[in-house]
Amino acid sequence: MSNLQSKWRYLVMILGIQLVVMALLSREGYQKRVTYFFRIFRRGDAGGSVRNQTVRDVYANLSLLTKGLANEDSLPYCPQKSPLINGPFHVTFPSGLTLAQVERKNPLVVRGGRYRPPNCESHHRTAIIIPHRNREQHLKFLLYYLHPFLQRQQLNYGIYIIHQAGNYTFNRAKLMNVGFREAMREEDWDCLFFHDVDLIPEDDRNTYTCEAHPKHAAIAMDKFGYKLPYKMYFGGVSALTPQQYLRMNGFPNNYWGWGGEDDDIGLRVSLSGMLISRPSLTVGRYKMIKHKLDKGNEENPRRFNMLAKTRHTWRNDGMNSVQYEVLSREYLPLYTNITVNVGTQKGLQPFNSKAPTQAPSPVKQPESHVETSISKVRSTNS
Ligand SMILES: *[C@@H]1O[C@H](CO)[C@@H](O)[C@H](O)[C@H]1NC(C)=O
Ligand SMILES: *[C@@H]1O[C@H](CO)[C@@H](O)[C@H](O)[C@H]1NC(C)=O
Ligand SMILES: *[C@@H]1O[C@H](CO)[C@@H](O)[C@H](O)[C@H]1NC(C)=O
Ligand SMILES: *[C@@H]1O[C@H](CO)[C@@H](O)[C@H](O)[C@H]1NC(C)=O
Repeated sequence: MSNLQSKWRYLVMILGIQLVVMALLSREGYQKRVTYFFRIFRRGDAGGSVRNQTVRDVYANLSLLTKGLANEDSLPYCPQKSPLINGPFHVTFPSGLTLAQVERKNPLVVRGGRYRPPNCESHHRTAIIIPHRNREQHLKFLLYYLHPFLQRQQLNYGIYIIHQAGNYTFNRAKLMNVGFREAMREEDWDCLFFHDVDLIPEDDRNTYTCEAHPKHAAIAMDKFGYKLPYKMYFGGVSALTPQQYLRMNGFPNNYWGWGGEDDDIGLRVSLSGMLISRPSLTVGRYKMIKHKLDKGNEENPRRFNMLAKTRHTWRNDGMNSVQYEVLSREYLPLYTNITVNVGTQKGLQPFNSKAPTQAPSPVKQPESHVETSISKVRSTNS
């Protein structure tokens, strides 16, 4: 009798547990179904006609900002969230754009490409470091979008172009090291954005400020279908505080040519015991200006070998070993142009200042400024 009773008890208990589990499972499923539904809903939202009402001109309402009469020393702090943030904006590349137009649209930007909010004291001092050679056309578009983008975020900022002199193979990562040192020499920046010249942000909620860990900002590029191509990807646009940058000994100096250096940098982040922080996929969106691989920036065939050795080399190759020679420093209306001799694979040799510091643009780059003038010269000569 008692035997039978205990069997019943077991049965009831098992049934009860099953019921609870089923209830939990179905609740989760329900939640999943609901979020799935919402996601479909939102996707429709983002692509369709609703978008027309929210996507604005990156310059919308910026002209309302004027230099106030307030005493510069007694400005109140800017609000934690800038009231000028709009979300997504249109990015197009009109062919007739000139630097003079960009200047006129940004009357509050001062010598060297510096800006601070006119009516409040910014919480953030951000330097933008852009490695560069023969990309004047791309630079123009980037400046057209980046200046208002940063002003919407109420940042105290400066834009530095680090121009590699001569014709030797391009070295993106080493130029970043130069940019870090030269920018920090000028100002006590609390955040540095390392920025490719051909990537245009599309949403001003992607704030150009630093986080507790190194930030990879270019998480969703049109080139990769607005998705992260692989988990450790750290290319395009990244941001580090000076402390984070020095902790990982900066970037490698020995990657000549295209590719590999961004993975090396990603690896350095984890080797030095840090994580990668990222904005959301909806906010970290970038449009890439289409172009061919430049002459002088061919694929680096050694990159995989070098990557395999990063864990042994990162402590000795980086900020603590970078050698270069600054050839000129120009404070232009929209940016500071630091032209630098970074040497070659064999090391740093004194730069022949009589030779042209800038390579004429190769035939492969039809959209470039320099190229058109050269081909004009060629055609009139022949
Ligand atoms: C939204 O914009 C797209 C192009 O940007 C246009 O083709 C479409 O007609 C617009 N829709 C509305 C409702 O204005
Ligand atoms: C900001 O610009 C939008 C249009 O882009 C306009 O509708 C709105 O009134 C402007 N805001 C202010 C404060 O002027
Ligand atoms: C760069 O290359 C061009 C030809 O492509 C040449 O005329 C020029 O002298 C080179 N400059 C330097 C610094 O070697
Ligand atoms: C930067 O300065 C160098 C040297 O004066 C010059 O050759 C180059 O064209 C400049 N680059 C830009 C983007 O202003």
